[in-house]
Amino acid sequence: MEIVICEDAAEIGRIAASKIIDLVRRKPTAAIGLATGSSPLGIYAELAHAVARGELDMSRAHGFALDEYVGIELEHPQSYYSVIHREVVERLSMDPARVHVPDGRAADLHSACEAYEEAIEQAGGVDLQIVGIGSNGHIGFNEPTSSFGSRTRVKALAPQTRADNARFFDSLDQVPTLCLTQGLGTIMDAREVVLVAQGEHKADAIAAAVEGPMAAVMPASVLQGHRYATVIIDEAAASKLQYTEYYRHAWNTKPERAVSAAV
Ligand code: GLP
Repeated sequence: MEIVICEDAAEIGRIAASKIIDLVRRKPTAAIGLATGSSPLGIYAELAHAVARGELDMSRAHGFALDEYVGIELEHPQSYYSVIHREVVERLSMDPARVHVPDGRAADLHSACEAYEEAIEQAGGVDLQIVGIGSNGHIGFNEPTSSFGSRTRVKALAPQTRADNARFFDSLDQVPTLCLTQGLGTIMDAREVVLVAQGEHKADAIAAAVEGPMAAVMPASVLQGHRYATVIIDEAAASKLQYTEYYRHAWNTKPERAVSAAV
């Protein structure tokens, strides 16, 4: 994995967004894996600026959300359908018909999960998947002990996740107990994965995911096996890593960076 340690959330947003901008310029119909949560908001803000300045056209790109709560109304402001449409589709002028969110209201949830996998396949697979990380190391809603081979499916939310996400609802009771999430195997099929995280409360999960053993109890550690995964984090989230000096050195001396800086 490539580890990039940034000064602040704005720099995380800029570096991660530049990957997406390069990709969509090369391939206007690219499929982007979209994450909810606060971590990717800086990326969406940067992309929104590029769209507003006429430097980026996302209208032909495809979007696939990582996950959705089960049983929540689509119109609920905290359904991931609402969040993705509000934070991403509208701000980036994406085509709503090309942006997909797992259907947590389906009568047959298992068929909805299968249909989601098929939709990703039909779009030619995800080119770049954005992920955040939960304080317990989940990516998407793949809670600890999720299989590294898992596909989109129904999962029970961990108590820690419900407690963490209670801030978006009026009370803990209102946080759904089930979700649909792309599996770790689904995420690993993306051609590129970009994990973003900020803050001290993510430092333990980042250290375990990046430098700990690959283990199902730490779902994000699956990314150690991805051929093209980048972890873009701030100083606080990096504060429990052992090899920060090496990561900074590798980033500062990266040949592609030297080339683009020289142009
Ligand atoms: C939720 C989402 C995850 C997200 C996580 C972290 O549980 N399902 O995809 O990564 O929250 O959220 P935040 O970025 O707000 O810390």
